[in-house]
Amino acid sequence: MISDADVKALVRERYAEVANAAGGCCADDSCGTSTQLYDNEQIEGLPSEALTASAGCGNPTAIDDLKPGDTVVDFGSGGGIDCFIAAKAVGEQGHVIGVDMTPDMVDLARRNAASLGMTNVTFHLTEMESTPIAGDSVDVIISNCVINLAPDKDAVFREAHRILKPGGRMFISDMLLTAPLPAHATADARNWVACLSGAEPQEVYLGRMRQAGFERMEIVDDKPWQGEQEWASRVHSMNIKAYKPA
Ligand SMILES: C[S@@+](CC[C@H](N)C(=O)[O-])C[C@H]1O[C@@H](n2cnc3c(N)ncnc32)[C@H](O)[C@@H]1O
Repeated sequence: MISDADVKALVRERYAEVANAAGGCCADDSCGTSTQLYDNEQIEGLPSEALTASAGCGNPTAIDDLKPGDTVVDFGSGGGIDCFIAAKAVGEQGHVIGVDMTPDMVDLARRNAASLGMTNVTFHLTEMESTPIAGDSVDVIISNCVINLAPDKDAVFREAHRILKPGGRMFISDMLLTAPLPAHATADARNWVACLSGAEPQEVYLGRMRQAGFERMEIVDDKPWQGEQEWASRVHSMNIKAYKPA
């Protein structure tokens, strides 16, 4: 059994490597399918360092509209790809805040923002379970292949609910399961950083969201994950939309 602290240390170590990789990310032991997830129009003009660090499993910015002027928070912002796409959508009147617990990722995202000259994006080095963001202050939370990595998902959804304004939206791309994984798979540390061991059955995940106070949870897209393990067909990349009650 891997402790919660060990999981976080492994995740930080692996995503520091991804942030620092010259040739791009996404070896077998990290999440992500990179920029195939995005329309060319969305990623046009983004720095190659933001594209190669992309480690998502979906496109949360495409789940529903981001409106000009929205304040958006990205839980687990990595190299910043979804933040930069969101920043274009919300415009100069809006603001995007990326939060990530891996210092090398936050450094990379800040360098990418500087090279883009974007003034409506900021990055915080913090765990998403406990952020310095004011309560009831955020219009939309996005997150791309991150919440599965959190050992305490209830804390993540409580924090998301705390910072969202009443009526705020949450757009999540994440790895979920159609059936639990075998114990030997979840015990393998490599499967944690690869976004597999921490994935939960969809009813458990949505139940945690409901418990935190979210409503109208909807799985808007569901794609089977392509892996070679005998249990791979149980793993799906899903897009989820939910609301904090108005
Ligand atoms: C699979 S990558 C996804 C990065 C980004 N969302 C993307 O699509 O490219 C996971 C990221 O989440 C961050 N992360 C994992 N657990 C976190 C936590 N509890 N709080 C904040 N960031 C976390 C990691 O440091 C890493 O940058």
